[in-house]
This record gives sequence, structure tokens and C-alpha cells, in this order.
Amino acid sequence: MFYAEIWLESIEEMTVKRILTGIRPTGALHVGHYVGALENWLQLQARYECYFLIADYQALGDHFHEIDLIRDSVIQVTLDWLAVGLDPERSSFVIQSYVPEHAELTMLLSFITPLGMLERNPTLKAELDELPVERRTVGFYNYPMSQVADILLPQARLVPVGDDQAPHVEMTREVARKFNRMFGEVFPVPDTLIGRIPRLRGTDGAAKMSKSKGNVISLSDDRETVRRKVMSMYTDPTRLRATDPGHVEGNPVFEYHDAFNPDKGQVEDFKHRYREGKVGDVEVKQALAEALNRFLDPIRERRSRFEANPRQIEDALMHGTGRARKLAAETMRQVRAAMRIDSYTSRWE
Ligand code: TRP
Repeated sequence: MFYAEIWLESIEEMTVKRILTGIRPTGALHVGHYVGALENWLQLQARYECYFLIADYQALGDHFHEIDLIRDSVIQVTLDWLAVGLDPERSSFVIQSYVPEHAELTMLLSFITPLGMLERNPTLKAELDELPVERRTVGFYNYPMSQVADILLPQARLVPVGDDQAPHVEMTREVARKFNRMFGEVFPVPDTLIGRIPRLRGTDGAAKMSKSKGNVISLSDDRETVRRKVMSMYTDPTRLRATDPGHVEGNPVFEYHDAFNPDKGQVEDFKHRYREGKVGDVEVKQALAEALNRFLDPIRERRSRFEANPRQIEDALMHGTGRARKLAAETMRQVRAAMRIDSYTSRWE
């Protein structure tokens, strides 16, 4: 596993060729996605062959009752990607369900994958715990398996993701090795690349931003919304007055300053004064709202350009998906040949 700070060196050593990563289309992307993953993707796309997957099959896992949301989100996520600067000329944007080989490979790999791999997966376990019983479907339980297929189908070597996804990449490595051992070398064993800020807290101080908790700042929020969300952010609960010494560690307001405020001098000054009880939360938050808005302004501007041009959104999706289909067909040819399920009648030839 690699972390963003060391990515350059490590990646050179690994001679990465192809990268795959993805997102489930279940809502607009937020600033946690940016520092946890998208920021890495932007750097990687300049130098490697990148496949960015919109995992709509996977989204069915916990949103099968909200197909309209998935449909809207496919477009929203594409817009978010274009808005942050992912470039569909260089990289391939792929709609998962338009490449049916994803489903075929998921099924084939499931026959060599022990149940224990799913049972032990900590991300899956935590998500299942949060799902009401009637929504714990076989499909949901199996989604890490489909993610393994997502990564192996284009034969990716590196998977840049947020840290909650690391167990799925770990599982991918195990399945790839097992397949190669049983049937011959088909799949590279991929590495994980974790973003600069593996997990950005929610605005309510919760460990993670998640749309269902309403504690996110979206990449598409307007200036006023961002300001309002920041001003009501959770901060140091032990501090009643601006003259009380405050806690900086574990305080999301300061974590966000570290993540988004490029003026490090200002951030250090705030931290110092906060600890001493010499600055109020309001002033620190106002500066944060401004920093976030400055960070988001260029993203908003690009978004509105693409919004005015729906053809470009569609073209981006269709080109990328077309490229992915070619790769998928080639991998499946290799897989079927390796497993010897491709030529039953040849024994009579
Ligand atoms: N599980 C990822 C998410 O929740 C989405 C995803 C699907 C993915 N397939 C992938 C990520 C393959 C990395 C690689 O956003």
C-alpha cells in the first residue's frame, strides 16, 4: 500500500501502466472525495492510462430501491469529475453496466473465492451492520467480489482510493494470485494508493463524511451553502467562550483548514491563538469558509461550462466506455482460454 506523499517515487519503481478506480453513483461528490482520492487521480491522469469507473451495478447494492437517484448520479458524478479537471480525452470514464463483462468476471471469480474473504472484510462488515436486515441482499454481500472484477477486468496495476477501499484491493490481490496459480498468469497483482487525507471528518465531527448523515460539503455546493455549513460546523465542545483555551487536535475546523487553506501561516496563527484562548470560533470558521470557497470557485466555473454542454458529458461517457469494452473483451478471451471454457468442441477437430 502506498500513501500520497510518497507516490511519485514508488510509482516510478512499479512501472505502472494502467490504473483503475471508481465511485458508486449515489449522490454528488464531496470535498472528502477530493482530498481522499480525486486529487491523486488528477495527478495520475497526466502520466498513466486511467480508467475511472462509475459503478452503477455496485450502487444497486444499497440503492436498488432508488434507481432514479442512481440515474441522476451517473450524470452528477461525471459532471463532478469534469469539474475537478479529470480529462476524458486522456482518461476513460466508464459506465460499469455498459460493460457486461463486469458481471461475467464477477461470477467466474466467485467460484475460486472463499466465503471467508467476504466474512473478514472490515469495510463490508461495517456497512452490513448499518443496513436494515431486509436490505442485506446477496448482491450487496457480494459487492467486494464485483469490485475485484472491476479492477482485474482492465488488468489494472494501481488502484487510487480512499482508505476504506483498501480491504477490497487487498482481496483483489489475493484473488488475482489464486487465479494465476490455478490457471496461469493472466492478472497483474495491483497496488493501492491512498490519498493525502485518507478520511476527512464530517462537518458534525463524525469519523467520515457521508451523504446519508447530512454532514458533507459537496463539490457542487454554492458559496452561501458552504458558508452556512462551515459556520454551523462541530468544533471543540469543551470550549464555551472565546477566551477558553481550545483543542485543535481532533477538531474538524482545523482539520479542514489543514486540508484546504493554502495559507499555512494563517492556519498556524489560528491554531496558536485557539490553544491560548485568543481567537473565537467565528473568526476561524469565516476564514475556513473563505478558503473552501476559493478552492471550490474554479471547480464551480468548470462545472457550469460543462452543464451548458450536455453533449460533452455524453461524449465523455461513450468514448471511455467504448475503450473499456475493447479491453474487457480481450481480458475475457484470455480468462476463458486460461480456464479452458472457451473451446469445448475442439477435441473433435
Ligand atoms: N466502492 C467504491 C465506492 O464506494 C466504488 C468502486 C467500484 C471502486 N468499483 C471500484 C473503487 C473499483 C475502486 C476500484 O465508491
